[in-house]
Amino acid sequence: MSAIMPTYGRLPVTFAAGEGAYLIDHKGQRFLDALSGIAVTNLGHSHPNVTRAIKEQAETLLHTSNLYGIAQQERLATELCQLTGMEQVFFCNSGAEANETAIKVARRHGKNKGITDPKIVVLEGAFHGRTMGALSATGNKAIQDAFKPLLPGFIRIARNDAASLEELANKHDDIVAIHLEPVQGESGIHPLELQFLQRAKALCDQHDWLLSFDEVQSGNGRCGSLYVFQRLGVTPDVLATAKGLGNGLPIGACMTRGRASRLLIAGDHGTTYGGNPICCAAASAVINTLSGDQLWDRADRIRDAVFEGFDAELSDPELVRDRRGIGLMIGIEPNVPSENLVRMALDRRLLINVAGGNTIRLLPPLVMSETDAKVVGETLADMLNTLKDV
Ligand SMILES: Cc1ncc(COP(=O)(O)O)c(C=O)c1O
Repeated sequence: MSAIMPTYGRLPVTFAAGEGAYLIDHKGQRFLDALSGIAVTNLGHSHPNVTRAIKEQAETLLHTSNLYGIAQQERLATELCQLTGMEQVFFCNSGAEANETAIKVARRHGKNKGITDPKIVVLEGAFHGRTMGALSATGNKAIQDAFKPLLPGFIRIARNDAASLEELANKHDDIVAIHLEPVQGESGIHPLELQFLQRAKALCDQHDWLLSFDEVQSGNGRCGSLYVFQRLGVTPDVLATAKGLGNGLPIGACMTRGRASRLLIAGDHGTTYGGNPICCAAASAVINTLSGDQLWDRADRIRDAVFEGFDAELSDPELVRDRRGIGLMIGIEPNVPSENLVRMALDRRLLINVAGGNTIRLLPPLVMSETDAKVVGETLADMLNTLKDV
């Protein structure tokens, strides 16, 4: 029996190495990775720039403390601010922690204005992480119920429900922020409607709420720009990210601008590991590699190649109920049950995932070749064709 707590449903495979868009198991079998460790290895596995940065930093200094200056942290914060227009950054270790920071920034904003019981508007279907604050902001009863009582102070509305936002604005004077994923990932890849995001921003500006985006999954080049807000043209006051920022090393960031900056002060928040030299060195290599080559421009091309392969191979368009997404956050909702698809794909040496009940979720790396992307689409279509014939 394993000594690991059984919190994950694991597949029967263990990987020993990774190269670009491939993972290799201990028998040397190569698997095409269309999941990227759930939107983490956006630059692919073992990217030489990241490996070099980690090696060099590991030979010099791994960790000191946030009690001291950390040059790698300063550098990364400056790079992120230059590339996003944000002004300040708090570094942490994960997406959940980046969202916890965003929640604290929002509450601090309210407290500074004399609001004693601040409320944050969140969305149905949202996923913000597993720590108690982030879990409370999440909109998924199945993963919340066993851990009640949740953190109070969240008001939940449906995705894209601008009318409810307007209503809340008229009814409540204790709202401090709207916190949302511009592209919901775990609920099955749902890009929010641009009009809804624009309305949310207008209301935030009008009522002095913070517009707070969770780009843990959509960020770091995945959706065709460094952060998807840049492609959408709706700039948040608070930006939480993680996953692809470290391409495999654990680092998260909560960035702020304008009225969201300079809210947290000494003693308000902290972490031992957050922003340590090794993780920041890796993240700088990631950010510079992404931006140096504008690598995010590949996102739409790879996506098109996936669908080229998929459409060429699919025997019947009726097999697909919906396809959604932006850049390399791809959701394909089939008309056949998807419970066996992950295992079927594994048998074909393809790594995919199912999210939001019945949606095939693809999160390929930006370095995947168009030929491999076509293979991803062809393999998926072939699997759906087979299910139809059953
Ligand atoms: C949008 C979003 N926010 C937050 C998280 C939580 O990130 P982490 O697992 O690093 O805590 C995830 C993870 O899937 C996510 O997709």
